[in-house]
Amino acid sequence: MAGLIPQDFIDELLGRADLSEVVGNRVALKKAGREYKGCCPFHNEKTPSFTVSPDKGFYHCFGCGAHGSAIRFLMDHDKMEFVEAIEELAQMVGVDVPRDTSSNEKPVQSNAPLYDLLGEVAKFYQQQLKQSPVAVDYLKARGLDGETAQRFLIGFAPPGWDSLLKHLGERSTNREYLLTTGMLIRKDDRVYDRFRERVQFPIRDSRGRVIGFGGRTLDGSEPKYLNSPETPVFHKGRELYGLYEARQMLRNIDQLLVVEGYMDVISLSQHGVHNAVATLGTATTPDHLKRLFRITQEVVFCFDGDRAGRQAAWRALQVSLPEMKEGRQVRFLFLPDGEDPDTIVQTEGSVGLQRRLDDSLQLSDYLLRELRDQTDMSSMDGRARLAELAKPLLRELPEGVYLDLLSQQIAKEIGLDSSRLSQHLSEADNVASQKAMRPLKKPGGTGKVTLVRHAVRVILHYSQEIGSLDIPEQLDQVDQPGIPLLLELLGSLQSHKGITSGALIQRFQDRPERDALEKLQGLPIPELQDATGELHDTLLRIVHIASEQRLQALTQKAADGLDTDEMAELRELHQWKARSGRTAGSE
Ligand code: GTP
Ligand code: MN
Repeated sequence: MAGLIPQDFIDELLGRADLSEVVGNRVALKKAGREYKGCCPFHNEKTPSFTVSPDKGFYHCFGCGAHGSAIRFLMDHDKMEFVEAIEELAQMVGVDVPRDTSSNEKPVQSNAPLYDLLGEVAKFYQQQLKQSPVAVDYLKARGLDGETAQRFLIGFAPPGWDSLLKHLGERSTNREYLLTTGMLIRKDDRVYDRFRERVQFPIRDSRGRVIGFGGRTLDGSEPKYLNSPETPVFHKGRELYGLYEARQMLRNIDQLLVVEGYMDVISLSQHGVHNAVATLGTATTPDHLKRLFRITQEVVFCFDGDRAGRQAAWRALQVSLPEMKEGRQVRFLFLPDGEDPDTIVQTEGSVGLQRRLDDSLQLSDYLLRELRDQTDMSSMDGRARLAELAKPLLRELPEGVYLDLLSQQIAKEIGLDSSRLSQHLSEADNVASQKAMRPLKKPGGTGKVTLVRHAVRVILHYSQEIGSLDIPEQLDQVDQPGIPLLLELLGSLQSHKGITSGALIQRFQDRPERDALEKLQGLPIPELQDATGELHDTLLRIVHIASEQRLQALTQKAADGLDTDEMAELRELHQWKARSGRTAGSE
């Protein structure tokens, strides 16, 4: 991910860049002690719950959980690419970005020319639309007005194999860029236009830059829609069509509708419903959900009532679960077979749509309805099965009010009291928490601060103050969730003295552990006079307790006989016990 920019440089850069300046240039901040406070730019709020800690190099929003380093801020707020964000920071600090040339991978290049060129392509298609009566008639027949078409930059790719190629691809650098962005296709030495004789819908990122296209046929030919392929600037699983346009029209977005098609978004907007976005012919992804909830507190998925629609809805429910934090809402609107938001708003107007939205299903109601449909609620077995089906779903929910409410609802449904149910569920949780996804969760976990979590917390809050550490050598043999992560963090601390907390987390940018780390970083921690001492003590206690447990286990097993390895281990543990008995004054 970091390409060929050395990690050390990134750590250094994050240490030197002033986060309060990076954020302060874009968000109004007030100083509060060593930190800054302001209204969070990632969700709508009136009272500030967004804090910036320049010393520690990270920002955190107590409202929506937005969190990260200066790099993350530039990526999420300014929608920069990773490399762009680094270049921006380097420029602020006044240093050049070094490239590691020892490897023979392709050097990391800026995507700027790709965006520029795609903007040109969109203009070209817009001009072409004006000159194509067939395409204009098609759009008119679908009820689209000129103002809306303009707002969404709708265009037309003319028939023929080389219209775009001739217009923009004559220069060889341009041609390469057009190939990279998928606008041209190369096949057996022949280069030709991807989009031919199609109405073109430019897809823009949240900064308004064109990053790809969807193209629709005018006649019935297949495929109905053609989309840009994955490219360095276009990632289907992340983008939401219409988000930029929605933000242009609306100051506050209290609710976002997620619909299926380009034409749904556009048609809704023409009818004054500006808060609709579409996934790009893909299933809803966790990335989509994260982005949606950075912008709004309420998401309504609108799907067709047919089988495919129901499948897509269930998938959307599954990826929504981990995001169901306090104050957030997810609803589901199922339309009659054969209808989509476009047809609804054309026949019933925005009032009709609104009436349907008012009647849409809460996530919990939809979930229960589906589970009920899959079981026979009149029998004991059926009700037990409902609990079984609910288990993996509940496990995806973060701890909090929502989980409690839903558990109660399910318990009521099956006629079990909710403490019995939660006992049932936490047994299952033992298995879940041993998976890498939740490295910091204690088995059976209630988010309690285990020693391992505490150690990680100390590292995250005091990374810059922690001096030389004596890491107990048995630590890497401790078999507990979170230990590999802890060891990795300790390694980073040792290889980069004075690393900021933000830089530490930045290293986990693309890894599942990131969420857990961010949560721990956001939790307050008591003031520590001697963070190094505290960390050291905690590590010793982890090893101590693990060794005690192992000693007990082996001693018990000794009655049935031990193999030679186990005997050696037991001997060592006894020696350790004798030693620590002499020195454990502080225990
Ligand atoms: P029309 O109203 O007929 O223009 O289409 P729609 O916007 O209602 O789209 P539909 O519900 O048929 O499909 C929803 C979305 O799925 C579209 O906007 C596309 O993103 C995608 N899609 C539909 N058909 C195809 C196809 O043939 N190929 C690909 N790749 N995507 C498609
Ligand atoms: Mn449609």
